[in-house]
Amino acid sequence: MNDQPSDLSLTQRDALPDEFRLILSDLPRSEWSDHPDFNGLAAFWLDRHLAFRRLLDALAQDARSRIDGGMATETYAARLSRLGSQLLGDLIGHHQIEDQVYFPELARLEPRIARGFAILDADHHALHGLIDRFATGGNAVLSAVGDAAQRKATGRFLTDLSDFDRLLARHLTDEEDLVLPVVLKHRVG
Ligand SMILES: [Fe+2]
Ligand SMILES: [Fe+2]
Repeated sequence: MNDQPSDLSLTQRDALPDEFRLILSDLPRSEWSDHPDFNGLAAFWLDRHLAFRRLLDALAQDARSRIDGGMATETYAARLSRLGSQLLGDLIGHHQIEDQVYFPELARLEPRIARGFAILDADHHALHGLIDRFATGGNAVLSAVGDAAQRKATGRFLTDLSDFDRLLARHLTDEEDLVLPVVLKHRVG
């Protein structure tokens, strides 16, 4: 499901093109929470995304505290290990269920925007490259010995985090705009 123009790839696009906003125009974001079927899969989906955004915010905040010297070496290592493992495990599982279960079902329900789900699937592959970079950078921090070495590794890791955060934010927003209206319209879940 990766046959799309390169300008719609995760690193290049600023938003989903209008052709994928057909259902969204009938069910705009401002109306989602008032929809009678919101408190099911729709709310759950948004909640998962919020958890990913919060985890990344916490990881970046911790990294800045470590670089500034406000957070102790051992405290930072323990938090990075815990929050990093949680983020990667949860995110990989989330992508799997989307690719294997939800995207095919939603594309079948709304064939007019089916290609949008292929774009989201391709995003996951791009994000897995960033996940690998995140894991490598995080492990470099955890294996750094001493205060100065850990701070230096954390500085590099913060750059990885910033790229990851920017592209994940793009993906989550576009996915919500594509998925939530279909979930609500067809009462999926
Ligand atoms: Fe996704
Ligand atoms: Fe998602």
